[in-house]
Amino acid sequence: MQLRASPHDALSGAVALPGDKSISHRSLMFAALAVGESRITGLLEGEDVLSTASALRRMGVPVERHADGTWVVQGVGVGGLAEPEEPLDLGNAGTGARLLMGLLAGHPFTSFMTGDASLRARPMRRVIEPLRQMGAAFLARSGERLPLAVTGRADLLPLAWESGVASAQVKSAILLAGLHTPGLTTVIEPLPSRDHTERMLAGMGARVTREALSGGRVRIGIEGQPELRPQSFRVPGDPSSAAFPAVAAAITPGAVVRLEGVGLNPLRTGLYTTLAEMGADIAVDNRREEAGEEIGDITVRGSALVGVEVPPGRAPSMIDEYPVLAVAAAFARGRTVMRGLGELRVKESDRLSLMAEGLAACGVDVMVEGDDLIVEGGRQPAGGALIDAHLDHRIAMSFLVLGGRAAAPVTVQGAETIETSFPGFASLMTGLGARIGAVAP
Ligand code: S3P
Repeated sequence: MQLRASPHDALSGAVALPGDKSISHRSLMFAALAVGESRITGLLEGEDVLSTASALRRMGVPVERHADGTWVVQGVGVGGLAEPEEPLDLGNAGTGARLLMGLLAGHPFTSFMTGDASLRARPMRRVIEPLRQMGAAFLARSGERLPLAVTGRADLLPLAWESGVASAQVKSAILLAGLHTPGLTTVIEPLPSRDHTERMLAGMGARVTREALSGGRVRIGIEGQPELRPQSFRVPGDPSSAAFPAVAAAITPGAVVRLEGVGLNPLRTGLYTTLAEMGADIAVDNRREEAGEEIGDITVRGSALVGVEVPPGRAPSMIDEYPVLAVAAAFARGRTVMRGLGELRVKESDRLSLMAEGLAACGVDVMVEGDDLIVEGGRQPAGGALIDAHLDHRIAMSFLVLGGRAAAPVTVQGAETIETSFPGFASLMTGLGARIGAVAP
């Protein structure tokens, strides 16, 4: 499906964002690990999360959606999943696949896992290696990629692991496997990544520790074999989804857009810090806490942006937001340098290359130097390009945001991928005054 974004005038309005993708996957999985019934409201009903729900059902977990939008999960307890009869297809969902691998490592049966062409290209060694050391066996395609088979063990061993990447998916997979061991499992991260797993499991009764180490590193520990209490989860709005209307507003003169109920976990808000440094007019009010996460309403007004240098240490707190930040940079006067983006090459697509190619196709001066992305902004982008989303929702949405303020419309091919994380994106944006529509085939 092709969507085309045409230049629009000022944006205005107030919108609620779809549920946080990271927290949605975790709510379903962790509810499955509890003993008893959990209820989830505000769950993201995007394809990624629905893939996790159906994988859990295939492993014998009753997961139901009620007519009022509440999801109800009958937990089977830690170690209580049943062998799936068919391969688990996680679609586009890296979080679903990697976190489930951690759970499956602790179950004494063999399961098969696959995904779409994007997920099948993504590196799994970072998860497979520690899980192997804990005692699980994996048989994977070349480069340790999906499809793969995992044979877990009921007598999994605790592990002390130091990860080379600040990845919440790697950390979470190990911690989830650690739940199935009779001792303490620890993971050291080079920089802190999002901590939803730790917060949510601690809230359910697991013993989780966190210790700051030298050089910004952090060590997370979890005690195995807890009995997890069922929960009522309220999933906050996704700050990574809010990023798209936020940037659209920031680059549109006269725009005033209010984004309601957005998660403000400090390990997720690097984009907002960066936009403020660029001179964006961003205000947060109505701060409150829901289910262990701070949330608030964010108001973004259009303003003149200037280029900045984004330090590599900020990457974990805005790793999914660089594509749309690069769009903001195209509209900012001067040079924006985004450093340390190696991880962007192994997301749903190689985002570093695709952003550079797409921005250049839209008439923006852009360079990749090593793992750094450099954008020379300030001239209105010509637009007029046809961009292939490459099964990457954030590439698709970023270029639709750009098209709204370029001189000529931007068309995105393969825009159906937006359904993985942000169902209703086009109508939410058009409700604010954007002009995004389907192109007749
Ligand atoms: C996620 C972690 C990040 C992020 C992804 C969601 C999570 O991936 O890019 O969209 O929910 O744990 P990495 O852990 O690979 O950095």
